[in-house]
Amino acid sequence: MTARLVVLVSGSGTNLQALLDACADPAYGAEVVAVGADRDGILGLERAERAGVATFVRRVADFESREAWDAALTEAVASYAPDVVVLAGFMKLVGPAFLASFGGRTVNTHPALSPSFPGMHGPADALAYGVKVTGCTLFVVDAGVDTGAIIAQTAVPVEDDDTAETLHERIKTAERAMLVEAVGRMAREGVVVEGRRVRFGH
Ligand code: GRF
Repeated sequence: MTARLVVLVSGSGTNLQALLDACADPAYGAEVVAVGADRDGILGLERAERAGVATFVRRVADFESREAWDAALTEAVASYAPDVVVLAGFMKLVGPAFLASFGGRTVNTHPALSPSFPGMHGPADALAYGVKVTGCTLFVVDAGVDTGAIIAQTAVPVEDDDTAETLHERIKTAERAMLVEAVGRMAREGVVVEGRRVRFGH
């Protein structure tokens, strides 16, 4: 059975593209059934349209409250009946309604080695701290900021002449490979979450 993925994006969507490319092979075991965003006019949505995948946008500013936005986002995602929801550079925290529906099967990718450097500036924070190794983390989304149980991690070296941008680009190359590998395994093998410990299988 092919796993149904809904992917949420806010930006350039290179992680989304990596998933779309992987899904072109039926042996991968998953298909992207819809791409959602919290803003218009982003390359991520364009990539979805180019691939012939349905899109939707739910902007926080169009709703009376954060709760109303969360409910609308949840409803939009639910209409595509996903097995797994992938936050791929989605720059919003999902709320309680979303987690009530999709908790345990929503994953997010973060450009640092958790639990180090959570938040919006993972690469810059790692550089400022002076670590020699950073990386990326795929985790099961919970109510915190980049705190969920860890599914996969890849280490990436920090070079002497790195800027936050060059470091982030190196991390993103690793991040795309990690995401494609781990989501594929989730689709084909399933995933078991026991407390903070995650393993593939069922
Ligand atoms: C990724 O590094 C993601 O972890 C971070 O933003 C980047 C998104 O890149 N939160 P893209 O939109 O997939 O190209």
